[in-house]
Amino acid sequence: MRKPIVVGNWKLNGTLADNESLVLGMLDGMSPLEGVDVAVCPPFVFVPQVARLADSTALAVGAQNCSEHDNGAFTGEVAAPMLADVGARYVILGHSERRAMYGETDEIVSAKVKAALAAGLTPILCVGETLEEREADETEAVVRRQLAAAISGNGIQSFDRIVIAYEPVWAIGTGRTASPEQAQDVHAFIRGQLADHDAGIAQSVRIQYGGSMKPGNAADLLAQPDIDGGLIGGASLKAEDFLGICRVAADTVGKQ
Ligand code: PGA
Repeated sequence: MRKPIVVGNWKLNGTLADNESLVLGMLDGMSPLEGVDVAVCPPFVFVPQVARLADSTALAVGAQNCSEHDNGAFTGEVAAPMLADVGARYVILGHSERRAMYGETDEIVSAKVKAALAAGLTPILCVGETLEEREADETEAVVRRQLAAAISGNGIQSFDRIVIAYEPVWAIGTGRTASPEQAQDVHAFIRGQLADHDAGIAQSVRIQYGGSMKPGNAADLLAQPDIDGGLIGGASLKAEDFLGICRVAADTVGKQ
């Protein structure tokens, strides 16, 4: 039985004042929520603020990226141990926006996963195909390649401390969600790829869906047998929407 996990990816949004009301709004509605892991990932500078606001609550904090290096002459970078030091528990790695706009290769993402694990953070490893790749029937090849790099770089056993997020790039921020069947197919494929290395790990790893998930479409997605939660962008900037998805996850995942 996999515990559902819903994570908000705030991307490049937030101010001290907005974050405070957003987090307090989330905390307000979270107390009756059981059986689901919940976290939000603000921009780096706000991680300590959110960690303080959410201290001793069921809301965890993560970051949206980290360096593959722990320290040294890497101007502008933020290291995984630094994030752990200020209260982060999770870190999103290999998000398609970072792959596409900041040149992150599968090898770099794998090295970041290693750094995050060494710092005791839970990496949320993002994989997913572009529209072009889907239309060229390359979805499985792309996802296989992205996973293979992280498996060869970190070993299959490390996946008992990794969360995977399947995010079809064409569904991110577009309002165009993958159908439950499309998502389930790729989630099952991902689990199958892991099962080729270790059946137990494949069964226990949690695989989130991400890409325009909203309270209104979450139930159908989360009812799929291999979808264990969501990585939520736009809808994580509104407490009610985010909580709505968390509630659906708590009520749906593993209950079919
Ligand atoms: P979205 O973003 O929910 O706004 O589509 C998801 C993500 O990029 O993680």
